[in-house]
Amino acid sequence: MNKPYLFCFLAIFSTALCINNGVGITPPMGFNTWNHFACDIDENLAISTMDKMISLGLSDVGYEYFNLDDCWMASERNAKGELVSDSKRFPSGLKYLSDYAHKNGLKFGAYECMGTETCQGYPGSYGHYAQDAQTFADWGLDYIKMDWCHTSDPELNPRLVYAELRDALNKTGRQIFFSICEWGEDSPYLWGKKTGNSWRTFLDIQCSWVSVEVCVDRLMEISKYAGEGGWNDPDMLEIGNGCLSHDEEVSHFALWSITAAPLIIGCDLNSIPDSSLEILKNTEMIAVNQDKGSVPGDCIYDLYPKQIWTRKLSDGSVAVVILNKNIFSLDFEITWEQIGLSCKTVSKLRDLVEHTTHTNVANGWTENGLKSHAVKMFRAYC
Ligand SMILES: *[C@@H]1O[C@H](CO)[C@@H](O)[C@H](O)[C@H]1NC(C)=O
Repeated sequence: MNKPYLFCFLAIFSTALCINNGVGITPPMGFNTWNHFACDIDENLAISTMDKMISLGLSDVGYEYFNLDDCWMASERNAKGELVSDSKRFPSGLKYLSDYAHKNGLKFGAYECMGTETCQGYPGSYGHYAQDAQTFADWGLDYIKMDWCHTSDPELNPRLVYAELRDALNKTGRQIFFSICEWGEDSPYLWGKKTGNSWRTFLDIQCSWVSVEVCVDRLMEISKYAGEGGWNDPDMLEIGNGCLSHDEEVSHFALWSITAAPLIIGCDLNSIPDSSLEILKNTEMIAVNQDKGSVPGDCIYDLYPKQIWTRKLSDGSVAVVILNKNIFSLDFEITWEQIGLSCKTVSKLRDLVEHTTHTNVANGWTENGLKSHAVKMFRAYC
């Protein structure tokens, strides 16, 4: 048993949290290169994407992190064993990019892997946790995503090694959002909050509606493990990548909002369709995602083809998402009692997709003809 594990073990009894780095108070919002660009990334893309985050108004509504995913590094460490960025694609280095982000009011993040190599075969952090944590801090990183490839030889225990990196990051003194990407294998929701600021709950999202459904289903009944400083992470957004219909993109965003998932954009901001941009900038849904002081939403009803997710918000209102998983339209009825409201009549029912308000609605709501893969998302006030 090594020291970080012992510390966590003791912390269970003292009820102290092991990670206490002051970040991730609400779910992170930002951009990551992987979903759209995979390894096809360079400095120009980083700069133009950061510029777009600002000019498209995304930074104004809360998207602050620009994160590079895999493939930013050179194929070898330097003579001192330090990570270095690829000299052709990132000639100015990551410190330059983080300075650029900070100068423009953004934050900057990157990717590494707990194993011997990254998923794409670049140098992994195994054997270099403390050294790499220092490199991340020296470069001014605000966010680090740590992946889980190449961890079977030697066989790594995620609870131990992620805690080791947490402590290494802490020692640098820099506040860095720590994103655990262990694909949900070792029930990270049970130990994630002590160790990181978010933890992936399943394998990588794919650009398809089926994958969106599968990823969000993994969040059922685990909302109670998340909250201020540590979040369930069903993976990054596929909105704007052309694989989902408009209704599916709205549903994707509604489900990620109500479950307090990280909102990390994964499309090409240089060519994002207006309709997708409008979804990502829905400030009423974002407000549900970013609600301070309440536990994330959870599924309260799951009988195919209907799902209902609710979140009690800190002002006493309740957010609700009703999802039609069918390939046909669906009629539905909900009651205020069913979604956890104590009043018989809702004084204000705000539709967060249509941006309309209904007042004094008694008993519940009936909707006819909710389209395939579409949602209704309301915020109800007693
Ligand atoms: C390091 O950990 C201590 C103890 O939990 C905490 O008070 C401090 O804020 C942490 N510092 C950083 C930079 O995470």
